[in-house]
Amino acid sequence: MIRKQLLASSVFVTFLLTGFYKSDAQSSSPIIVKANEVKANIKPTMYGIFFEDINFAADGGLYAELVKNRSFEFYNPLMGWKEIKENGGSGKLYFVNVGGKSPQNTRYAHISVNAANGSFGLANEGYRGIGVEQGEQYNFSVFARNGGQGNTSITVELVSSKGEKIGSANLSGFNTEWKKYTASFTSSATDEKAHLNILFHGAGLIDVDMISLFPENTFKNRKNGLRADLVQKLADLKPGFLRFPGGCIVEGHELETRYQWKKTVGPVENRTPIVNRWNTEFKHRITSDYFQSFGLGFFEYFQLAEDIGAEPLPILNCGMACQFNTGEVTPVDQLDPYIKDALDLIEFANGPVDSAWGKLRAEMGHPAPFNLKLLGVGNEQWDTQYIERYKEFAKAIKQKYPDVQLISAAGPSPNGPLFDYAWKELKALDADIIDEHYYANPQWFLDNATRYDNYDRKGPKVFAGEYAAQSVATTSPENKNNWRCALAEAAFMTGLERNADVVNMASYAPLFAHVEGWQWTPDLIWFDNLRSYGTPNYYVQKMYSNNKGTVEVPIHLNDSVMAGADSLYAAASIDKTTNELILKLINISGQEQNRNIVVDGVKGLKGNAKLTVLQSNDLDVVNSLDSPTTISPVEKEMTIKNKKFSIPLVPYSFTVLRIKM
Ligand code: AHR
Repeated sequence: MIRKQLLASSVFVTFLLTGFYKSDAQSSSPIIVKANEVKANIKPTMYGIFFEDINFAADGGLYAELVKNRSFEFYNPLMGWKEIKENGGSGKLYFVNVGGKSPQNTRYAHISVNAANGSFGLANEGYRGIGVEQGEQYNFSVFARNGGQGNTSITVELVSSKGEKIGSANLSGFNTEWKKYTASFTSSATDEKAHLNILFHGAGLIDVDMISLFPENTFKNRKNGLRADLVQKLADLKPGFLRFPGGCIVEGHELETRYQWKKTVGPVENRTPIVNRWNTEFKHRITSDYFQSFGLGFFEYFQLAEDIGAEPLPILNCGMACQFNTGEVTPVDQLDPYIKDALDLIEFANGPVDSAWGKLRAEMGHPAPFNLKLLGVGNEQWDTQYIERYKEFAKAIKQKYPDVQLISAAGPSPNGPLFDYAWKELKALDADIIDEHYYANPQWFLDNATRYDNYDRKGPKVFAGEYAAQSVATTSPENKNNWRCALAEAAFMTGLERNADVVNMASYAPLFAHVEGWQWTPDLIWFDNLRSYGTPNYYVQKMYSNNKGTVEVPIHLNDSVMAGADSLYAAASIDKTTNELILKLINISGQEQNRNIVVDGVKGLKGNAKLTVLQSNDLDVVNSLDSPTTISPVEKEMTIKNKKFSIPLVPYSFTVLRIKM
């Protein structure tokens, strides 16, 4: 990642001078669309989502759990918690580690309560506070037992940032066996930064673990599910696929902390939290309370993909830790457990309910298969060590599941010796789809709109798996999701779509960021504990994904593809299911351009075209929580009476036109 700064910073200055402010005299040539010349089929998977547990994307974000460090398994068991004593109550607590007796969840809190009057307890701060809405129900649960002495009860209190009690519930009758106790209450106020008190009363010993609070209102009202507003933003993209769980999180800082899907399925109390690799990755954005609870694990992931109509695309560790960190590898002759994990994941997703892993899927509530067709082998790996390991995975997976398409890695840069090496080797291995990553400045995206025009049509397909224009430099905390970057991405994406026969899939990265818990910027969707907003980049993705069409047709200016001449970029497609022509037109200049368009190869066009326009005269404009739609698509209608018509392309704009043919 850090090396990508080189890519990002070099041309930024020239970009300001040349890219967007170009004031070439415009030609008056018409734009020609050849609606009867199908160039490529556009796959339903073309535009998708890259999910990675970075920036609090899972815990503190999509996963709606409100209690941080619910099972005391962070390095410091009291992280996120503090002791409280009220009205003369007192007590003591320490943590018991049962080790191998409960290897997945080793610690619990052992509490001695001396609170015949008043209370002794624990307060949880949540993820930068606990966000609650007035009138909404919250569901509390705890694993508890009487510690063998006396009698205690619990009051759960939701406390606002002003210190007012805004919800509460009581629990009592704990016996000496571990049991899950639940209670619900309604919040009487909306607060983005409430906290939760667990108050013990009486006198005696009590043991507690897995202290949890969820909103009742989750996506599809799933018990202890996902945050509804965030999933809705994903669903609105109408994504073709959902890549999960990353990103470098797949690889781990070292192999020990790699992502292991088997540890993320089954009952949540048996999923061992581990440190999140982004916790200490950037010295300028240390997030010491960033762990992975795996409450959003592989079952919830497959279910989410199904809910939003996206093909699942899991990425698995291939025996390599992140090469920007330790770069540890497993010896090739010891890869079997890793390969078995991959084969077992396919069985978990697709296997019959009487297979070992299919049975678990059914027990978790989904007897029907998830229909997994795509699988990534390694994330952003490179060099000989990757190819040697990829070969082993490909051999074993293709032998057992020949129909599963494999995604392989081309490394962290979109060019250079390692990139060329990966392509040469993977081509020789007849790889299915190669994952290219590009984090670069906006000018790179403008310059690379023709990147795929000359790719080998007979070689592996391309997955543009991670990309985002960087306003300052890759990994700079100053990067902004501004219109300049989003417009450059819109221009670049014309080249992805024009080459849909080669580029089968694409996703912006990263996806989510908590405004107080992020490590990496820019990101597609930002949120706090109650609100969220889509960036200009989000709306670019949405306009492409919602208007992709089924076949690509040529769109030319002066007999050439439209990739920068007259500051214009364009792609054209037809949606054969609705019989509509779809034009995507990007004007990166500061002048309005009224362009004539001639559509060849159709009998006629007549009727109301729908125009969706994303535009701002200010290239530095951004959206924010308080101003979430400063830049967002505006829909208009335009009457078209002829195969020849003219269209106003306003300054710095991305326009999508849809018209019945
Ligand atoms: O998207 C952030 C990171 O960038 C990903 O984890 C990694 O794959 C890439 O280097």
